[in-house]
Amino acid sequence: MTRSAEVLRRDRPVVLQPVGEDNRAAILALELMPEQQGLVASNAESLAEAREDDEAVARAIVAAGRVVGFLMYSAPEEDDEAIIYRFMIDRREQGKGFGRAAVAAALKEIAHPGHISRVSICYEPQNEAARRLYASFGFVEKELDEDGEMIAVLELGR
Ligand SMILES: CC(C)(COP(=O)(O)OP(=O)(O)OC[C@H]1O[C@@H](n2cnc3c(N)ncnc32)[C@H](O)[C@@H]1OP(=O)(O)O)[C@@H](O)C(=O)NCCC(=O)NCCS
Repeated sequence: MTRSAEVLRRDRPVVLQPVGEDNRAAILALELMPEQQGLVASNAESLAEAREDDEAVARAIVAAGRVVGFLMYSAPEEDDEAIIYRFMIDRREQGKGFGRAAVAAALKEIAHPGHISRVSICYEPQNEAARRLYASFGFVEKELDEDGEMIAVLELGR
């Protein structure tokens, strides 16, 4: 990769937008690769879940005006722990740095109100892309949960 391509790949600004009528269809149109289907619930399921759960924060991941991914977390006001429990980048947009930019944006948003001191995340143990991505932000693997998913935790520095 040339140096300029490397810079482009790593400098991928994204914004997180609340889900609404303007981006719902684009979120539902996002796709995973066939071999990734079992790694995360479908966006249709997640949006349905978000409608029922007041604590669910659902976000479109938007780059240059295009929806490239979706994530969902909870960060209840009465708790000091946030959980990122859905995260995906469209199969056509993977490997371009959007996932990394989205994790950074989500952590910034979660930390902003100031009551969260720990963020946890979980993923299938064989999900090497997720493992590497989260480890690079300082997430430390703790244990498998009851569904056999790895739980990794990031202590936010204050
Ligand atoms: C995990 C996922 C969100 C990463 O998004 P992405 O936009 O492709 O990620 P990026 O291009 O920003 O890459 C960030 C880091 O992820 C890791 N990564 C991404 N793709 C990888 C792959 N195919 N193999 C190994 N590591 C990979 C690397 O550490 C990479 O950093 P590097 O380029 O400095 O080595 C995306 O692959 C995805 O949607 N996967 C399916 C759903 C999923 O697994 N969600 C997470 C668990 S809930």
